[in-house]
Amino acid sequence: MKNIAVFASGFGSNFEAILEAAEQGQLQAHIALLVVDKPACFAVERAQRHNVPVFAFNPKDYSSKEEYETLIVNQLEEYKIDLIALAGYMRLVGNVLLQHYEGKIINIHPALLPAFPGTHAIEKAYDYGVKIFGITIHYVDAGMDTGKIIAQDCFKMKEGESVDEVEARIHQLEHQLYPKILNQLVNH
Ligand code: GAR
Repeated sequence: MKNIAVFASGFGSNFEAILEAAEQGQLQAHIALLVVDKPACFAVERAQRHNVPVFAFNPKDYSSKEEYETLIVNQLEEYKIDLIALAGYMRLVGNVLLQHYEGKIINIHPALLPAFPGTHAIEKAYDYGVKIFGITIHYVDAGMDTGKIIAQDCFKMKEGESVDEVEARIHQLEHQLYPKILNQLVNH
């Protein structure tokens, strides 16, 4: 069975969906490590509840991205990680990680890329007035949400739907699609 590391920065609902899919056998992989750049984020609690080891770091404690990414790579090697799934990891991946795991880093983004890359994508799309919302799963390269697209899904906004309602539907879609695509990638 392949080993997956999930990277997160916040709430960790996608991480939880991935864990549950793995526990229920829909995702045939071992969720071997959680990496977070915010040691106090809720994703850490989820990892502890599911007995998943955590590597937590604070970027401010390091003089460069190269320095902390080197530590991350050491951890990934220790846990024999085959695939990295970014799940709300709000940080650009740098050269060190890309060189070691080229083509093995996946991200989920809450918009139909190439529209609305970066942060606050749902609010930006809502404020822009889009009528079809969606999500994108893509390979990670050095750019901001620019890597090759693997999968997308979408839905039509309902009349009068609030941004919070749209956001809830986006997360629902993410929680279904991400484990499914990860399963395809590790068991192709
Ligand atoms: C998700 O909606 C994910 O698509 C988004 O952050 C959220 C994390 O939620 N990622 C990005 O915006 C990346 N540019 P979660 O912590 O509950 O999984």
